[in-house]
Amino acid sequence: MRAHEAGALHGQAGTRGPAWLARPEDPNALVEHLWSQNVTKDDAGVLQVGGVRVDEVAATYGTPTYVVDESDLRARARAFADAFDGWDVYYAGKAFLCTAVARWVTEEGLKLDVCTGGELAVALRAGVDPADIGLHGNNKSVPEIRQALEVGVGKIIVDSFEEIDRISALASELGVTARVMVRVTAGVEAHTHEYIATAHEDQKFGLSITEGDAFEAVRRVLADPAFELAGLHSHIGSQIFDTAGFEVAAHRVLALHERIAVELGHVCPEMDLGGGYGMAYTTQDDPATPARLAEGLRTIVERECRAAGLAVPRLSIEPGRAIAGPSTFTLYEVGTTKEVALDGGATRRYVAVDGGMSDNIRTALYDADYSCTLASRRSDAEPVLSRVVGKHCEAGDIVVKDEFLPGDVAPGDLLAVPGTGAYCRSLASTYNHVPRAAVVAVRDGEARLIVRRETTDDLLRLDVG
Ligand SMILES: Cc1ncc(COP(=O)(O)O)c(C=O)c1O
Repeated sequence: MRAHEAGALHGQAGTRGPAWLARPEDPNALVEHLWSQNVTKDDAGVLQVGGVRVDEVAATYGTPTYVVDESDLRARARAFADAFDGWDVYYAGKAFLCTAVARWVTEEGLKLDVCTGGELAVALRAGVDPADIGLHGNNKSVPEIRQALEVGVGKIIVDSFEEIDRISALASELGVTARVMVRVTAGVEAHTHEYIATAHEDQKFGLSITEGDAFEAVRRVLADPAFELAGLHSHIGSQIFDTAGFEVAAHRVLALHERIAVELGHVCPEMDLGGGYGMAYTTQDDPATPARLAEGLRTIVERECRAAGLAVPRLSIEPGRAIAGPSTFTLYEVGTTKEVALDGGATRRYVAVDGGMSDNIRTALYDADYSCTLASRRSDAEPVLSRVVGKHCEAGDIVVKDEFLPGDVAPGDLLAVPGTGAYCRSLASTYNHVPRAAVVAVRDGEARLIVRRETTDDLLRLDVG
């Protein structure tokens, strides 16, 4: 966030928005690669997904609503499974998890990564085979570990020394062996186009390779009969668009893998390279396809293993955003508009919708960029620089910071924001006691509710006086 005396984000005025934002010739047109595969507009400008009109979705289910293109999400999951054939692909449930999505991704050949007891409960209710579940978390509770061991999850990703003791005690008590990976920090943090290979140990996840903690954790795990060590786990960042950052991480993780083999006599059969593969939120983003990522990662790992004289372990990855994110848009109804004079004589149009930071916190939290389109009609009005804001009591309650929308967008219009399938519903809150939005799946001309809208009664039920 930039600081400004008028408040965060007030200082980014300008007559044409940020440099990357092109003034569209036709603001009704969709920027195709920002939308899921089955989204189109008809001649009247009404957005459709899988043959279903969004005005019908709004009439039936209300707004705001997350609209998931089921075939698109399944296709993205399948594309990862196909591209990474021979690897295990775990869908990272933190991106967005409900029983329907858990079933879709496992039907498409993926396994599932969960990071709390709540996510584990969803996976189990969906009927996911526990052997196909990996449990993450930097501070797993005793009940969470106990449940994971009782149901027999395929692996627990160990994140701390304390957790080794906790898992060991519980596994001994239950008379089971805990199959684990040790999460290491490779000293690499990757975001989008750049990666930085120093000083990224200063965060809460994992055990440091450079400080020796990771080796010591592995030593303790191997010395304890309560454990079976599957291998090392490394996750280096988010919104990564290429494989450059993995090069350094893989080098360091494989060096540890080799040291474990030489000094402790254990050849880890597996290795997990984590998630973080990017998606397109705006025209600035150009993510790699799963096939390109797979080729890049395979090349890196094979080269590193060859150089170290090691057999290639069974590899896994954990994409979340790249599967769930592009499949979904959020449908809002416009409630109010206003124009604000900016420095230099320009104006910015504020368009307030019936949701906001409670259904999409990413703009406020990460300064994220989104785009949007008028979804309920065509307009011949001139495009004007607009800011889509929510209904919450925060000036920072912004959904789309900058977009050119037709200048006649008015109350009652529907707006759709693409790319909201990951880290939106899963990070949703009930701020201002606004009930959380519904999730509707569309496939082959049919829409169905997969997560119902919260009601005021749901909220009041928790308030026990
Ligand atoms: C360990 C781990 N795996 C996978 C993911 C999924 O990342 P993404 O949704 O960006 O692919 C995350 C995200 O925080 C993570 O921490």
